[in-house]
This record gives sequence, C-alpha cells and structure tokens, in this order.
Amino acid sequence: MITGTPLKDVLIDRIRAVGPIRLSDYMAECLMHPQYGYYATRDPLGAQGDFTTAPEMTQMFGELLGLSLAQAWMDQGAPKRFALAEAGPGRGTLMADLLRATRRVPGFHDALELHLVEASPALRRKQRELLGDATWHDTVDTLPEMPLYFIANEFFDALPIRQFIREGDVWRERLVGFENGTLCYGLSAAVPQQALAHRLQDTQEGDLVEICEAAAPIVNEIGKRISQHGGAALIIDYGDWRSLGDTFQALKAHQEVDALDVPGEADLTAHVDFEALCMATPSKFSRVTPQGVFLERLGITTRAQTLAALMEPVTMEEHIAAHRRLTHPDEMGNLFKVVAFYPEGATPPAGVEA
Ligand SMILES: C[S@@+](CC[C@H](N)C(=O)[O-])C[C@H]1O[C@@H](n2cnc3c(N)ncnc32)[C@H](O)[C@@H]1O
Repeated sequence: MITGTPLKDVLIDRIRAVGPIRLSDYMAECLMHPQYGYYATRDPLGAQGDFTTAPEMTQMFGELLGLSLAQAWMDQGAPKRFALAEAGPGRGTLMADLLRATRRVPGFHDALELHLVEASPALRRKQRELLGDATWHDTVDTLPEMPLYFIANEFFDALPIRQFIREGDVWRERLVGFENGTLCYGLSAAVPQQALAHRLQDTQEGDLVEICEAAAPIVNEIGKRISQHGGAALIIDYGDWRSLGDTFQALKAHQEVDALDVPGEADLTAHVDFEALCMATPSKFSRVTPQGVFLERLGITTRAQTLAALMEPVTMEEHIAAHRRLTHPDEMGNLFKVVAFYPEGATPPAGVEA
C-alpha cells in the first residue's frame, strides 16, 4: 500500500476507480471527510495549531463586529425577535466576544436566537463548551425565516474551489490525479465554461482563474432572508473583488506546505472572490472594504488604548502586535476585506459604505 496519510489511500483508491478528480472534490474530502477530514477531526486553531485567525488574536475583533451588527439592528427598528447567526464559528471565540460586547445594548440579548452553522463535530463540541446553548445547522438553508444578523470570518476561504487555465477562448480544468505512488496535478481537455464567460474579457492565454461553486447558494440564502425579513451580514475574508491567479494554499504548523502532500492534515484555503459573493445576493451589498479601514472606522485604536490602560507589560506587547496585525496594510489590514449585505432602503452597517 502507498504510504502517507490514511486519506491519501482513500483518495488514491477513488482516483483509481473514477480517474482524476476536480480540485473542489479533493479540497472537500481533505477538509470534511467524516473520518479523516481536517476540520471533521480536530481543532486546528491558535498558536499551537496550524493557523490563527483575527478573533483568536484579540477580543477587539469580535467586540467591534458585534457593535456594528447591534447598531444595524437598532437602525432597523430593533426587531423583537431575530436570528444571530455565524457560519464557521471555529472555537466560538468571535461569538463569545460579540455577545459580551453587546450585553449592554438594551433589548439585543432578549431579542436574539443564537444559530451556528458548523460542519465539524469536533468544533461544534468546542463551541458548545464556550457558548452553551445554541441551535446548530449543517448548512445555512435551515436558518429560520426571521430577521437575520449574520457573521462569517474566514468561512468562505475554506469552501472548495475549482481552477481553470485559459487556452484560447476555452479552459482546461486543473485536476488531481495519481502517478508513481503520489498525488499530482493534471489538466482536463479544453472546453468552454459558461461560468467563466465574463472572464474572457480580463484574462489572457495561460491565466489561471478560480471559482467557488459552493459560495453562491450560501450567499443567496443569507441575502434572501435579509431582503425579506431585514437584518445584515458581515463577511470577512482574504481575497479581492475578482480572483486572478493560483491562490490555493495549504498550511500546517503555521508553515506553507504542498497541498497534495498531507491530505487531511493541512488546512486548505483559497482567496475569496468578492464579486461572486456580491453577484449572488438578492440584497444590497456594500463596497468591499479593507479590514484595516473597516476596523479603524469602528474605533479599534480607541478600544486598543482603553484595554492597554488595564494591561501588564507582557500582555501589552501581544496586544500591540495584534492591533498592528489586524489593521496594518502590510499584514492583514489590506489582504482581508469586509463586505456587508443589508436590505434595500436600510443604512449599511457601521464600518462599510454603500
Ligand atoms: C478557518 S476556520 C474559521 C473559524 C472562525 N470563524 C475564526 O475566525 O476563528 C473555518 C470554519 O468554518 C467551518 N467550515 C468549513 N467548511 C464548512 C462548511 N462547508 N460548512 C460549515 N462549516 C464549515 C470550519 O469547521 C471552521 O469552523
């Protein structure tokens, strides 16, 4: 038998049976295979894990997002009952910070129902430990039909992507195959791609583009609820208005590794195509805003100074580093973007512009 991770054997058997598979199938198996999938089996976050995220670096992130959502709730007349929902809550840290920061907003906690969309049983357990009671969902499709205040940080980057390389006016798809005991990339025959018709204008021969087919139906469900019942969504992730080039990446122990080397044991991500998200929502969408600008507009520096006044020198260094990391253009400040969805006629959530 070929050596490697247990999932590698599963994938090789599958490729032997059906031929090379799409990158999206490879990514979905690596992240969510029920027995060996990366998220399905572990908590990968934090300094001891494979990667860290904004809410794991500082409480300020969840606090400020919470205040932006609570302001949107007040701007829309403070509906008496609403769903507060998060997709891909990880350890639940962002939601815990959000809930703490909004405790003093009159009526907000009495009106909310907490809904978490999480595919990983291991992370659901962590979320329950930290947040207590909530309603968990496998997908956004089962979120209730009521005003929806929704948040997702580094969720869309974990959804499976397909990659295509342009050849004339048609496209070859990047596939995952198997040769001499190892997984390797190959290319499909060149075929037209309806979903990429708009990319014939801004790409050239040999350019690689990515699409995330799973994202549009999710955004559509969220946007539909917000349009029909009110609410707002804040989506934060790395990426840009339109994706160009290979952004598929694997991280293990905070180091970049070969994405085909250790299936099921490294985090796999790709940059988010914000244009595709905005085109899929029936609601209004805001300008796509750099995370640094968004957090500064919400007052992160003032909040950082208030917290710093209460800190010991050791924690202070970490605190200053986290503030810089989240906001500086050379760190996450520019790479990460924020987009908000909101109903026609409503004010955009604080931190973004129409
Ligand atoms: C990179 S982590 C981000 C965690 C958290 N939002 C944070 O900022 O720390 C991705 C999260 O999305 C979840 N996830 C990934 N794909 C999913 C899917 N298809 N459906 C539901 N949850 C998913 C993972 O289990 C994990 O909780």
